[in-house]
Amino acid sequence: MDLDAASQDRRHVWHPFTPLDEWEAEGFHPVVIAEGRGAVLIDEAGTEYLDGNSSIWTNLHGHSHPKLVAAVQAQAAKLAHASYLGLAHAPGAALGAALCRHFDFEDGRVFYSDDGSTAIEAALKIAFQYFRQNGAPERTRFIGLGGGYHGDTVGAMSLGQSASFHETFGPLLFARETVPSPACYRCPFNRAEPEKQDARLYAKCRRECIAAVGRKLDEVGAETAAFVIEPLVQGAAGMTMHPHGYLEQVAPLVRAAGAKLIADEVLTGFGRTGTMLACESEWVRPDLVALAKGLTGGMLPMGATLVREEIVDGFRGEAFGRTGFERTFFHGHSYTGNPLGCAAALANLAIFDEEKTLEKIAADGAVLESASAAFWDLPQTGDVRREGMILAVELVRNRATREPFAPGERIAHRIGEIARRKGLLTRGLGGTLFLLPPYCSSPREIVRMVTLLREATEEFFQTDDAK
Ligand SMILES: Cc1ncc(COP(=O)(O)O)c(C=O)c1O
Repeated sequence: MDLDAASQDRRHVWHPFTPLDEWEAEGFHPVVIAEGRGAVLIDEAGTEYLDGNSSIWTNLHGHSHPKLVAAVQAQAAKLAHASYLGLAHAPGAALGAALCRHFDFEDGRVFYSDDGSTAIEAALKIAFQYFRQNGAPERTRFIGLGGGYHGDTVGAMSLGQSASFHETFGPLLFARETVPSPACYRCPFNRAEPEKQDARLYAKCRRECIAAVGRKLDEVGAETAAFVIEPLVQGAAGMTMHPHGYLEQVAPLVRAAGAKLIADEVLTGFGRTGTMLACESEWVRPDLVALAKGLTGGMLPMGATLVREEIVDGFRGEAFGRTGFERTFFHGHSYTGNPLGCAAALANLAIFDEEKTLEKIAADGAVLESASAAFWDLPQTGDVRREGMILAVELVRNRATREPFAPGERIAHRIGEIARRKGLLTRGLGGTLFLLPPYCSSPREIVRMVTLLREATEEFFQTDDAK
């Protein structure tokens, strides 16, 4: 007898970031998604949900966008996959050219991988190998920001600073240097102040955080291969947002120390903060950029690492006692450059041009922000912050002292459960709620997402559950 999808799943499938005890608990029935259309996901019973986190920040133009579907179908009918080791194909070549053009990397090239973590792994290995075979083997260190998150493979975990996700694996991780995140709301300079928009404190916070990078570079800059940053918004840290001007001033310090700047734009890339790369808004041209999530418009898993030609050049020719062969980047995956992913990514970029997506984001971001002001009515609201199409509402135990909820209370998760019952799917972290609507969402859908999340929050704090 065939089991239904939920029973089969609960018996045989292990889900990411999902406690098994909850999944297997008596009476638990997971939502089984059957279809997606625009900003809406539909389960097998026909119930509709607004996709308030763009399916873990991947979806841009909506589910089943006809142009994306057509691109993948046409490519599948021709060539679904062929090895990329020593072979090329047209969609991969065209995507390389398109990414370099759209992301101001005409003086560089693209290395493909499978997702955000592998795009980061490639970036850090390229930076490491570059110095090793170009006369600076002492540059073995990486510097990251407090709270940074770059993925769950071992190298990406090592770069990150996410205690709750990665603590268990501590003994496996390579040592990296940390500088404090400049995320303003939680920074010590701002903490005691009632008004986060205090311009003097904001500037002081930025100055101090930039100085901390300078001090770290004075200390270890000569041994540093790269400084790794999630520009403007640190996603898994709680959508913490950097003071404007921070990145612009940090980048030259990294350059002066001779290290490379790796921008992890896995979340922020493809317009999420309003520009194709978040770095653009601070006039910064990173040496390496990791892209994934929105790369295929949410259609297929794929990662890409953009690399400047000056670095690529360090992988060719005979130099520093190594032959050209020995200077090869020996790294890759079976599905590197998958043609279906490339076709989806090309169609995704075409939609940005044809549908003027960045203009839409500018208008809809303002809708998201104005709707979210309603959160201030709730006494538990400690901060409401937005960048592009990212909204975070930080809930606190006490607004005056900003005493946070403990991560173990899983406030955002529990509010997310209530929101789901109201027809909104989203997933926050700790005490912070997130909304990252797909760019196709209408203003009405955006307002509805905020309203449902606010109602769910209010309901949560009214029930005994919350106490
Ligand atoms: C900034 C950032 N980098 C890297 C990753 C890892 O990407 P993936 O989950 O595709 O491996 C994530 C995932 O959330 C991310 O937010």
